[in-house]
Amino acid sequence: MKKIQLGNTSEFLPAIGIGTWGMGGKFEADYSKDQEAIEALVKAVDLGMTHIDTAEYYGAGHTEEIVGKALKKIEVKKVFITSKIWPDHLRLKDAINSIEATLKRLGTDHVDLYLVHWPSSELTIEETMETMNELLKRGYTRYIGVSNFSVNQLKEAIRFSKAPVVCNQVRFNIQDRAAEESGLLDFCVENHVTLTAYSPLNRMDFDSPTRRKLEEVARHKNATWTQIALAWVVKKGALTIPKATSREHLEENAKAGDLELSNEDMEYLESK
Ligand SMILES: NC(=O)c1ccc[n+]([C@@H]2O[C@H](COP(=O)([O-])OP(=O)(O)OC[C@H]3O[C@@H](n4cnc5c(N)ncnc54)[C@H](OP(=O)(O)O)[C@@H]3O)[C@@H](O)[C@H]2O)c1
Repeated sequence: MKKIQLGNTSEFLPAIGIGTWGMGGKFEADYSKDQEAIEALVKAVDLGMTHIDTAEYYGAGHTEEIVGKALKKIEVKKVFITSKIWPDHLRLKDAINSIEATLKRLGTDHVDLYLVHWPSSELTIEETMETMNELLKRGYTRYIGVSNFSVNQLKEAIRFSKAPVVCNQVRFNIQDRAAEESGLLDFCVENHVTLTAYSPLNRMDFDSPTRRKLEEVARHKNATWTQIALAWVVKKGALTIPKATSREHLEENAKAGDLELSNEDMEYLESK
C-alpha cells in the first residue's frame, strides 16, 4: 500500500483509506445494517486501509458510533481517525460540545485529524481557525484541516491558523477534476496541504467515455476499472477514502493502493 505524507508532518497515511458516508444512515440514523458496516471497517483496516474518514454529520452521529464499535475490535494505535465538525458548530462552546460528543461516540480521547466540514456562512475563516486552533491546543485532535475549501478560502485558513492546516478534503475523481482545474491541487502541493479526494469513484456514476478508458487501461494492467479510477487519484498525489462495504469491493480497493500507472496511462485516461 502506497503511503502519502500528511501535510509537512511525520505522519504517512495509506493512499487508500475508508470512507463512511452511508454507514449507519445518511442524514439520519439507520440501525439496520450496523453489523455489516462494523465488519467492513474491521476488514478495511485489516487490508491496510487504516485511515478511517467520518463526520459528526453522518447518520446524525450514528456513523461515528459504528466507527467506535469497530474500534473495539481493532488495535486503536493502528488506525488514523479523521472526523469533521459541521459548520454550524464552529463557535468555541458549540465546537467543544461537538468534539466531546464525537469522542464519546468513537470511544477515544482524541481524533487524529479534525476538519471543518464546509466553510461557515456565519463565521469568518479567521474565527473558524481560532476555534480549530483552540481544539488542537486542548488536545482534542492531533492535527487540524479543512474540507470543501476553495483556493482563496484555504489561503485565508492558512493565514489565520497558528498551527499548520494539513489537509483539504474535496471532491476529486477522474471525471470531476475541478480541484485540479481551479489550481487547488497545485496550491496544496506548494503549501504542504494534503489533498484528500472524496467520492473517488464518483459514487459509481461515471459517463461511458470515462468508463471505457478505465476499462481499457484495466485490461492492460490486469486490474479492475474501479482500481484504475483509484490509482488515478493516487497518482495525482492525493489521499483517498472510497467508501465500501462489500468484502469484494474492500479487497479490490486495497489492492489499488499498490497499482502504478505510467505517464502514458495517465495521458490516455485524460485524453478527450
Ligand atoms: N468532506 C465531504 O464533504 C465529503 C463528501 C462526500 C464524501 N466524503 C467522504 O468520502 C467518502 C467516499 O466518498 P463517497 O462515499 O461519496 O463515494 P465513493 O467512494 O466514490 O463511492 C462509494 C460507492 O462506491 C461503491 N464501491 C466502492 N468500491 C467499489 C468497487 N471496488 N467496485 C464497485 N463499487 C464500489 C460503494 O459500494 P458498497 O458500499 O456497496 O461497497 C458505494 O456505493 C465518503 O464515504 C465520506 O467518508 C466527504
